[in-house]
Amino acid sequence: MLTLGIETSCDETSMAVIEDGHKILSNIILSQVIHTEFGGVVPEVASREHMKTITPIYDQALNKAGVTLADIGLIAATMGPGLVGPLLVGLSFAKGLAFAAGIPFIPVNHIEGHLAANILEHAELDRHHLTLIVSGGHTLLVEVREFGEYEILGKTKDDAAGEAFDKVAKLMGLGYPGGAEVDRLARDGNPKFFRFPRAVRKDGYNFSYSGLKTAVSLYLDKLDRESFEAHKADIAASFQEAVVEVLVEKTVRAAVDKNILHVTISGGVAANSRLRKLLADKLKRRQKQLFFPSPVLCTDNAAMIAAAGYYRYEKEGPGEFIVEATPYLKLV
Ligand SMILES: Nc1ncnc2c1ncn2[C@@H]1O[C@H](COP(=O)(O)OP(=O)(O)OP(=O)(O)O)[C@@H](O)[C@H]1O
Ligand SMILES: [Mg+2]
Repeated sequence: MLTLGIETSCDETSMAVIEDGHKILSNIILSQVIHTEFGGVVPEVASREHMKTITPIYDQALNKAGVTLADIGLIAATMGPGLVGPLLVGLSFAKGLAFAAGIPFIPVNHIEGHLAANILEHAELDRHHLTLIVSGGHTLLVEVREFGEYEILGKTKDDAAGEAFDKVAKLMGLGYPGGAEVDRLARDGNPKFFRFPRAVRKDGYNFSYSGLKTAVSLYLDKLDRESFEAHKADIAASFQEAVVEVLVEKTVRAAVDKNILHVTISGGVAANSRLRKLLADKLKRRQKQLFFPSPVLCTDNAAMIAAAGYYRYEKEGPGEFIVEATPYLKLV
């Protein structure tokens, strides 16, 4: 069965066609560049951009997949969490299309979409696994008993990991969103150059990143221009190490405590090279295996939404047309 996925929760307009929850036929992603001049996403501008591009993106997704609407068996769209205006554009488009064409419709939780990116790409992944979702808005450590059955083990008390990357990138003048740029810069830096604080409470699995962000800000304030330029890469690497070490420590400990063999990471920060390497190494030492999505499936995309929609549909059948865009939708 073919699923058409639609994602418009923030500043990416994306549509994808996937086959049976595992094969991607098309995954068109348009990132709105207009927001870079504002240093962050402007919700009203994002909604209007989605309105302009949604129909051409729909045409491209079907054309690239070599199918027509008549071939589509399910339409899945993000209903939340995200920005209400952007969500409304994609969700209304999906409902209208599904209703007019008589195709089953399923609303999707964007966070479940991130998690589903791994199931989509890794057929060998155990149904029961541990997942770390690290995105621009979320930092969640979740035990997945099977798709749709979750226990949240830990979450951030304040900033999300991606948010910390973006804020520090901004402080360092690296543009927005800056996570990938910090990652690139850090490759030439010394992670031991400066020891930024790690918020690690030994007992729980929760995270906290606002203190780290403040520590970087205070550190940069004291630095003169010359030293900053000379040690930019070292500072990026030292900050990144502080974020990654805590994510890795808690994830490995949870995998050991819960005796879970397979671990996945997803969301934009799952593209981070240091996180991938350190977590894979530490898990391997414990005879555990790490899975992560290819970079394009880490940040927002409709293929993961189509996949999550397909797995939900398999479990529960179609959704209701009455669902509304839900900005603060939770995973559980
Ligand atoms: N290589 C990287 N290293 C670190 N962070 C990265 C990297 N690539 C992307 N990011 C970060 O990932 C985030 C974007 O991820 P994503 O698209 O999943 O988040 P979002 O959709 O904005 O938030 P959410 O999914 O929580 O609603 C940004 O914060 C970005 O800086
Ligand atoms: Mg996202």
